[in-house]
Amino acid sequence: MSDHGSNPTDQPQPSPQQEAAVQQAGAARNLDAHRDRYAQRTAGMTASEIRALFAVASRPEVVSLAGGMPNLAALPLDSLATEVSRLISVDGQAALQYGSAHGVPELREQICEIMAMEGITGHPDDVMVTVGSQMALDMVTRLFCDPGDVVLAEGPSYVGALGSFNAYQAKVVHVAMDDDGLQPEALRHAISEVTSRGERIKFLYTIPNFHNPGGVTLAVQRRAEILEICRHHDILVLEDNPYGLLGFDGQTYPALRSLDPDNVVYLGSFSKTFASGLRVGWVLAPHAVREKLVLAAESATLCPPTLNQMIVSRYLSTHDWKGQIKTFREQYRERRDAMLSALEQHMPEGCSWTKPDGGFYVWFTAPEGVDTKAMLPRAVTQRVAYASGTGFYADALGSRQMRLSYCYPTPERIREGVRRLANTLTDEMELVRTFGSVPQRSVSGPEAPSPDTA
Ligand SMILES: Cc1ncc(COP(=O)(O)O)c(C=O)c1O
Repeated sequence: MSDHGSNPTDQPQPSPQQEAAVQQAGAARNLDAHRDRYAQRTAGMTASEIRALFAVASRPEVVSLAGGMPNLAALPLDSLATEVSRLISVDGQAALQYGSAHGVPELREQICEIMAMEGITGHPDDVMVTVGSQMALDMVTRLFCDPGDVVLAEGPSYVGALGSFNAYQAKVVHVAMDDDGLQPEALRHAISEVTSRGERIKFLYTIPNFHNPGGVTLAVQRRAEILEICRHHDILVLEDNPYGLLGFDGQTYPALRSLDPDNVVYLGSFSKTFASGLRVGWVLAPHAVREKLVLAAESATLCPPTLNQMIVSRYLSTHDWKGQIKTFREQYRERRDAMLSALEQHMPEGCSWTKPDGGFYVWFTAPEGVDTKAMLPRAVTQRVAYASGTGFYADALGSRQMRLSYCYPTPERIREGVRRLANTLTDEMELVRTFGSVPQRSVSGPEAPSPDTA
């Protein structure tokens, strides 16, 4: 059966590239309006060049390995609906009212219990609830970074964090990773380079567990060393850990925060372990920093949504949330297996990829000469999409890389998507061999996050 829908008018349908070009032209026209009025700090805020293409890539016939959307099919929706309805009828006056910028007290206590699973002893007073951990990233950067300050971050790094750093005109210096995560030696080197230029490092941003997009985990024996380096150089650590409970064997790792509570600001989220649409995350910070964060958050949002916080809190107290996380883990493991075995089976010589033991992502490296951003429209024509690597760097590296997500499509779709991608890549390598290069991409920088690439 064909994937393509019928065409009732029998008119020729535009190709995915044509549709993307039309959408991009429309977006460019609108972006020109009001240009002279914007604040200078908005100059680096650019919509992803591939956003328009993703509108096409979200068609049902395209297998998207691009997005980071959790698979929510396994949530107990009926019992959640009953719970939410009861919450509003019994506690509606509180649930639909303003709350404090600090967050609902009961939820902050429950968050401390969750963090204890990764070795953290935190006090509910030092937790602030945020609108997803994305808001926490914004708040922490707002608090610490003046224009030109340096943030160290793994290369590659989470696109949404790069967007926040960019919005406050911080300069990102990447630190290399290997299969064991951030390399301590590379960190030392980056610190000495930056300080010898007279620049000020404000913090190290790191995703130690099941990295987005790298798919690797920071080795336990490296954790103390990295903290020691940061402490020695008076650099704060910003630990971002939305995937920590999604280890496929149920394994957890000691949080950096558990090893050095005074020098680590920790970010957590319910997006990957419960429901991303509720937008509930949190930050655990040293007490003085937490106080400042609450002031910053007040001016941004007054308070996080009370209803959503109460829904999360009720869910934690009335549902088997640990059992639910186990179900998620099993689903994601099955999808990871489908992706890794399809990559083994179909990918041409010269490609390599990471082998995650938790989380959502595989980081893929294509052979020399392949430019994954230039290849993307051709992949979409072959009905497969991915997130090209340059969006995960602040300095235009990553042109041979791409992030492949296995969280959302079914195992069958993943296998088919990888098969299509392998065909596209094989054709691309043939082009490179014949012509020596493929169409040039434009240089890219950090992009605003979107659900397509988060
Ligand atoms: C590493 C990382 N940090 C933060 C976020 C943002 O998550 P939230 O939905 O809690 O804002 C994501 C989402 O994909 C992520 O992968």
